[in-house]
Amino acid sequence: MIIERFEDEDALSAALATFVLESIVKNPALVLGLPTGRTPLGLYRELRERSGGNRIDWSEVRTFNLDEFAGLDPSHAGSYRSYMQAELFEHIAIPDSRIGFLNGAAQDLAEECRRYDDAIEQAGGIDLQLLGIGANGHIGFNEPASGLCAQSHVAELERATREANADRFGGDWTAVPERALSMGMATILHARAIVLIATGSEKAAAVKGLVEGMITTALPASLLQVHPRVTIMVDPGAAGLLSD
Ligand code: F6R
Repeated sequence: MIIERFEDEDALSAALATFVLESIVKNPALVLGLPTGRTPLGLYRELRERSGGNRIDWSEVRTFNLDEFAGLDPSHAGSYRSYMQAELFEHIAIPDSRIGFLNGAAQDLAEECRRYDDAIEQAGGIDLQLLGIGANGHIGFNEPASGLCAQSHVAELERATREANADRFGGDWTAVPERALSMGMATILHARAIVLIATGSEKAAAVKGLVEGMITTALPASLLQVHPRVTIMVDPGAAGLLSD
């Protein structure tokens, strides 16, 4: 596991954007796994700004987002699909057909999860998976539990996770769906390379557990320790509890 420390969130976002764009230049058909949330907002800002005027060719890239709320139409303002449209997809020349997303409004959610895992496999697997981390150590919506799902699945969200997403639902955490669809641990761990980003002191305990703790389903991110190509990018707040 490589730990990269940055002086602040902006420096982290800029460095990750450089890495992503260089990866696309090296491999124009890159298969990219993407997170939503607060942490990658700076990354998406950098990607938008630096892709403008067709400076980066996104036409062959494929993306697969980690998760989506169950029961929400993709066009719902609170959906992660809407977030991605606003933060990145509307601003880059990526064909709609190359954007992979779990459909939270699918009739049969189990079937939708199977479809998604098949689509990732047919794309040849994920080359570069970007991740955030919950303060409770979740990645995607793989919440701490006595057992974790390998494949994409329907997840029950913890209250803390719903509270963390309340701003997309008018500040009311009870309006946040109770369930979500998420890539599973195997889906994530099969990626050829993984970069996890964490900023702010509220993530410090989770980052310490992920880097220095035992592998445990009580902190799903700790499973990343078994992966051969993981980079953790942190600001001083998130690195606050790491040993030197
Ligand atoms: C969202 C996702 C989540 C977030 C995590 C951190 O697609 O996969 O695991 O990465 O909840 O969220 P923020 O960045 O809002 O603190």
